[in-house]
Amino acid sequence: QVSSRDGVLALTLTAAPGVSLAGRSTSALGFNGSSPGPTLRLRPGEVLRVRLVNELDQPTNLHTHGLHVSPEGNGDNPFLSIEPGQTFDYEIRLPEDHPPGTFWYHPHRHGYVADQVFGGLAGAIVVRGGPDLGTAADRPLLISDISLDGSGNVVSPGPPGRMMGRQGDLVLVNGQHRPVVSARAGTSQRWRLINTCTSRVLSLRLEGHRLAQLSSDGMFLPAPVERDRLVLAPGGRADVLVRPQDPGDYRLLTDPFDRGHPGMGGMGGMGPGTATATGPITVARLAVSGQSSAAAPLPGPLPTPPNSLRPGPVDNRRQIAFTMGMGMRGPGMNFGFDGRQFDPQRTDQRPALGATEEWLVTNSTPMDHPFHLHVWPFQVVETSTGSTTPDTLRDVVLVPAGGWVRLRVRFADFPGRSVYHCHILDHEDLGMMATVHVK
Ligand code: C2O
Ligand code: CU
Ligand code: CU
Repeated sequence: QVSSRDGVLALTLTAAPGVSLAGRSTSALGFNGSSPGPTLRLRPGEVLRVRLVNELDQPTNLHTHGLHVSPEGNGDNPFLSIEPGQTFDYEIRLPEDHPPGTFWYHPHRHGYVADQVFGGLAGAIVVRGGPDLGTAADRPLLISDISLDGSGNVVSPGPPGRMMGRQGDLVLVNGQHRPVVSARAGTSQRWRLINTCTSRVLSLRLEGHRLAQLSSDGMFLPAPVERDRLVLAPGGRADVLVRPQDPGDYRLLTDPFDRGHPGMGGMGGMGPGTATATGPITVARLAVSGQSSAAAPLPGPLPTPPNSLRPGPVDNRRQIAFTMGMGMRGPGMNFGFDGRQFDPQRTDQRPALGATEEWLVTNSTPMDHPFHLHVWPFQVVETSTGSTTPDTLRDVVLVPAGGWVRLRVRFADFPGRSVYHCHILDHEDLGMMATVHVK
């Protein structure tokens, strides 16, 4: 991990193949020789300076997922292409009132995102601050999946697997297969869970424990919420408190989650790199030592970012539809929004700076799609499934097949141009991304 000093976090990230994963040498990709890359720890008001060195054989770039930072200048810019052999200097300034929490970084060069994230290019960003929770440990846990062949080469899916959204058969935590996390009974730990999988929805549970959720997507909830299960869409995060009481060995599991299917009929075998689990997968193990004790206390109210956009007035409403259609343009299936594939030159939405908008995001396709908006976090106000979410801001929400999500966004600051997209990164690469220009 790398921490800021004197208000600046400066480092070089070199993206290159050939890291070791799950104890094997592989063709997987890493930053500075490891996957995940270093955890970046900085505070609100500080500056992140990253020199990105591209030692891949394809273009790349860097995105700081969930950070509320300006899309202008040479900061977070999903339109940028850094070619093989090139170097680029990013400078990203966090506002003074940036919420503390868990964010992450990954490449965002359209057309290559799924391959590069699946390959291993991801890392955690911790924005420091917030209350002292009295925890004995604070662990970013990046949960990824990958498929490797017998010689350690990353297996990429063919077109059907991309349409489905690839799922690797190996689920890793911080690049390790089923690592053991140790804890003492009667203490608490903060786990910063980050779903960096290309397409897999995690449906997590910890044997013998409830998880006390503190935040979603980096933003604190009003108070901890105890859950038996935590569903994290690709790109999503949740900080949880784990409070073991009894010594023993407990599995962190992810259960199968049905995301639907592109619906082309007879595509039962989606080819390599699309393993669909039929039962729970062990993600990690919690080894609890010591004597049986009372659970560590839960914290009280948390510093939720001021939002509650739910009751307030709305300046503008939009309807945005996830769409999939056959071969209007070229072979295969078109993935997009409102019947159009991504075009970086086109501006799809033009909110006014300072406006509060309500977006109805609909999904008439047969698959779930996680909706993600850069720069401006949103509040989910209503969903087709009636599921209620606590009043906080977030940046990823799963829009179920045949359903919809109503959300509110305040374009309070940061004029500029950025994107929203499906965080099934294969779908994003297939064109399920669009642009927003705030001014
Ligand atoms: Cu994590 Cu635009 O993505
Ligand atoms: Cu993002
Ligand atoms: Cu999708």
